[in-house]
Amino acid sequence: MIIAIDGTLASGKGTLAKKLAAHFNLPHMDTGALYRATGVAAMRAKVDLGDEEACADIASKLELSVYPDAELRTAEAGQAASKVAALPKVRQALFDLQRSFAMQDGGAVLDGRDIGTVVCPEADVKFWVDAAVEERARRRCLELEKAGKPISQEDMVKELKERDERDKSRAAAPMKAADDAFVLDTTVMTPDEVIKAALEFISSKSA
Ligand code: C5P
Repeated sequence: MIIAIDGTLASGKGTLAKKLAAHFNLPHMDTGALYRATGVAAMRAKVDLGDEEACADIASKLELSVYPDAELRTAEAGQAASKVAALPKVRQALFDLQRSFAMQDGGAVLDGRDIGTVVCPEADVKFWVDAAVEERARRRCLELEKAGKPISQEDMVKELKERDERDKSRAAAPMKAADDAFVLDTTVMTPDEVIKAALEFISSKSA
């Protein structure tokens, strides 16, 4: 079974993806990490984040293990990710990696922005996960505070809106829900409620 999970930042899509992968004993790929690592690598190499050829070259040689999770999770890495993610050649360079992960025997869970629409349109189950921007900002601020990098909620709302806009309006594989995705608005849901709703949807599909 291939499960495609797309949605906005801090909507809970990553948590849902990990829980579904554990539940069905499937491998999981956080595809955002690929774009984050490409952005971080470009910054480390002092490459302009709009230089399509140079960023695509970095993406094609990406070694994820070189980038500690803490470095990938910063707000700066997220912004860099969304800039390089707008470059079609970067997306092309990362496509095969994601596609072959999705097509492995037994299936997989992938989360990102374009899994159900571009990377794996034939996925057996698709989710679109979103939440109100204020709630997403609150969650992300809590995470950053725990990591010792506090940022005001007001600044976070601004950052999320900017990132959503860039991801939605880019020409290459814009962030959007697949027509056949099951929509989960997690604004007032706990992670347990989200997984319960997702599992109910999956069993209703296979029934
Ligand atoms: O999900 P995460 O916040 O880690 O993603 C970082 C950025 O990578 C997103 O803002 C988006 O621009 C890009 N991305 C993408 N397609 C994906 C996954 C992430 O464009 N499948």
